[in-house]
Amino acid sequence: MKIVINADTGQHTINRHIYGHFAEHLGRCIYEGLWVGENSDIPNTRGIRNDVVEALKAIGIPNLRWPGGCFADEYHWQDGIGPREGRPSIVNTHWGGVTENNHFGTHEFLDLCGQLDCEPYICGNVGSGTVQELQQWVEYTTHPGGSPMADRRNANGRKEPWNVKYWGVGNENWGCGGNMRPEFYADEYRRYATYVRNFGENKVYKIACGPNANDYEWTEVLMRRAGGFMDGLSLHFYTIFPEWGNKGSATGFSETDWMATMQAGLQIEELLQRHIGIMDRYDPKKRVGLIVDEWGTWWRVEPDTNPGFLYQQNTLRDAMVAAFSLHAFHQYSDRIHMANIAQTINVLQAMVLTDGARTLKTPTYHVFEMFKVHHDATHLPLHHDFTIIEDTKVPHLHAAASRKGDTVNLSIANLHPHETSEVVCDVRGLNISGAKARILTSDILDAHNTFDEPNRIAPTEFVLDAPKDNQLRFTLPAKSVAVIALS
Ligand code: AHR
Repeated sequence: MKIVINADTGQHTINRHIYGHFAEHLGRCIYEGLWVGENSDIPNTRGIRNDVVEALKAIGIPNLRWPGGCFADEYHWQDGIGPREGRPSIVNTHWGGVTENNHFGTHEFLDLCGQLDCEPYICGNVGSGTVQELQQWVEYTTHPGGSPMADRRNANGRKEPWNVKYWGVGNENWGCGGNMRPEFYADEYRRYATYVRNFGENKVYKIACGPNANDYEWTEVLMRRAGGFMDGLSLHFYTIFPEWGNKGSATGFSETDWMATMQAGLQIEELLQRHIGIMDRYDPKKRVGLIVDEWGTWWRVEPDTNPGFLYQQNTLRDAMVAAFSLHAFHQYSDRIHMANIAQTINVLQAMVLTDGARTLKTPTYHVFEMFKVHHDATHLPLHHDFTIIEDTKVPHLHAAASRKGDTVNLSIANLHPHETSEVVCDVRGLNISGAKARILTSDILDAHNTFDEPNRIAPTEFVLDAPKDNQLRFTLPAKSVAVIALS
């Protein structure tokens, strides 16, 4: 199959925030996954585990969305500040009905973002909170000083304001965030967003709750009624096979399941095209960003784990979904300002899984690490003749390219579960003579890492012949993702 990369025609930057993450008070994501407390035997810095911070820094985590998810619309931030012993406990009704001690709150989250060197993205409570609560949260975190909330922050040990640019005004307000109609939420959004203010140097970026998957009506109404009041509109889309009530297993699946997953996940392309089409009608200058702030695979929980904790394994199949979803976000990088995979640690399509002091990096983590070359690079248009796999709508290959200086990076996935592919890649507009590549693949369909064997699947060198006459030829193994640097 043939690919033509036009190295001198790129117009848009792939915002590194497309490689963002999401951490909710859900299962073992925050507690155990990120927060172990200062007295833990697990090495930590002010209660935050060092191994996980190191792993996330290595993929250049650009931002972190918190505290939910559905949890956000039941979270009252003032429960999570002040001396930890005095913080009230609450019941996490959405996720397992467990008691939460609020030891991880605003200061801890912003400390975590500081340790990760990433931008915080806080989601406010619209479903069960008040306008005043949200207004005061913004003031507490970002007012430079001389206000009641800044004084309170100071009394809690933090004199300087934080920079918190990204604020979500509610989460899934069409569902767990209040079961609202779009017309009602659009008005609520306008009211809440009015009081999400800029203080000092902090310039907020307000994100309205957007649609679930293919709810185009929600996008239409929000853009029509509230588009002028927002900087971003979110979109949630999960790859669920075969259907919501009967999720498949994360491991031990067949080739048929593999293909069904590819097909389900690739729906993201149509969703982006249609939601962006609606946004383009109301906002032709593309001022408002589409923020895909929850996406990823959603499987049955691992056996003998709490069904409310959404703990799942992660295989080469998940890596494929990550690769083609990220490619799809690149394609619309003139509209997509941010995306956040769900969720960072121990929940859904996680980067890292933990078991006490042990950790493992998932195949999805490795895709994020390999794709780091695309962060803030110039998106390059591609032409190709990829064939469709028989009896499906799934292309054999999926690719994206970007340019940084004199290097073109091509990421390419072979979505076929058992057929290799001969690839011919022509680069135009830049002279290339070398190709260095890494590949993530395995002979095993559900290849995954375990705590006993954490490096069963990891990227390896992909040895290629040098390009000739600006053309690179290679054989891409079945079920693989490669990143090739051409210079
Ligand atoms: O990520 C898990 C849940 O999925 C989130 O809390 C919610 O926003 C979505 O339905």
